Amino acid sequence: MPEPSPILTVSSASCRFDVSPPVLTRLISREPRRILRAVENISFTVERGTTFSIVGESGCGKSTLARMVVGLQRPTEGALHFHDIRRADGSLGPPRVQMIFQDPYASLNPRWRVGDVIAEPIRELNLRPDEAAVTERVGDLLEIVGLSRADAERYPHAFSGGQRQRISIARALATEADFLVCDEPTSALDVSVQAQILNLMVRLQREFGLTYLFISHNLSVVRHMSDQLAIMYLGRFVESGPAEAIFQRPRHPYTRLLLDTIPDVERPNRQRKPMSGEVPSPIAPPPGCAFHPRCPIAVSDCSASAPVLQALDERLVACHRPA
Ligand SMILES: Nc1ncnc2c1ncn2[C@@H]1O[C@H](COP(=O)(O)OP(=O)(O)OP(=O)(O)O)[C@@H](O)[C@H]1O
Ligand SMILES: [Mg+2]
Repeated sequence: MPEPSPILTVSSASCRFDVSPPVLTRLISREPRRILRAVENISFTVERGTTFSIVGESGCGKSTLARMVVGLQRPTEGALHFHDIRRADGSLGPPRVQMIFQDPYASLNPRWRVGDVIAEPIRELNLRPDEAAVTERVGDLLEIVGLSRADAERYPHAFSGGQRQRISIARALATEADFLVCDEPTSALDVSVQAQILNLMVRLQREFGLTYLFISHNLSVVRHMSDQLAIMYLGRFVESGPAEAIFQRPRHPYTRLLLDTIPDVERPNRQRKPMSGEVPSPIAPPPGCAFHPRCPIAVSDCSASAPVLQALDERLVACHRPA
């Protein structure tokens, strides 16, 4: 395990989409431009060899943030910076970043044999001297993710969702990636298969010193693998810090509600408050704290001014009335 050192620094990153109707329509109906604030002023640092998890409901901007990190989406404001890292072979350079997607059925080319899916980046990046070495490496990678060397000959349709996600992981490892951005990698899978994939990811992290940015809408999924955790609501972080501290003692009412919706095996009969209301539109977010319409402890201040992230025992919280 390498010494902890920053691998990614995100500084005040925002991503806004112009979702205005066509110019002519707008001029005729005198409508103003409509700007959707998908990600708003987010800052964080990911340490090498650790897992930084981001959790929030659908539409809160998780995938947009992930796309910015892998360079598929440019920030409208702010900056993302990858720090040079020293690899086992002694070389110093920017980390190799790969993304693992949610849908293992859509992310693998159905016409390619699995062996070619995994071999492509190895050939592309000239990571092995000849075809024999490529084939050897593909076989090794299949075994590393818990499949067999013979699986290289088969096509993606022959595999289950969980096995396909293993193939996606093998392909990411084939690039000799240092940093994996995992956008809901297990949410399309059954619970038992989810657990197997999460265990595999934890093992690979330990073995290869991988860094993860792990995205989920489900706090219980990230519970056992996160070092740092950020809770996102309508494009902003509302609470972020060491995962253990947040799970032990959530401070933001939204975090508390998310935790309340997780079944507790030790207290199966406890009262669980369902989360009320829907996530408002990021085009016209509520004034003040965007969470106030759904917040069980909101007061008049909460609709008057937006709370900023402030340090509160070990973590940052954006709330006028933190617990
Ligand atoms: N290219 C785009 N153009 C316009 N709006 C977009 C674009 N991409 C995302 N959005 C909007 O940005 C907001 C955040 O979307 P995003 O996909 O990042 O959310 P998410 O947290 O990943 O949601 P989910 O859990 O459903 O995957 C949504 O309101 C979405 O409609
Ligand atoms: Mg998403």
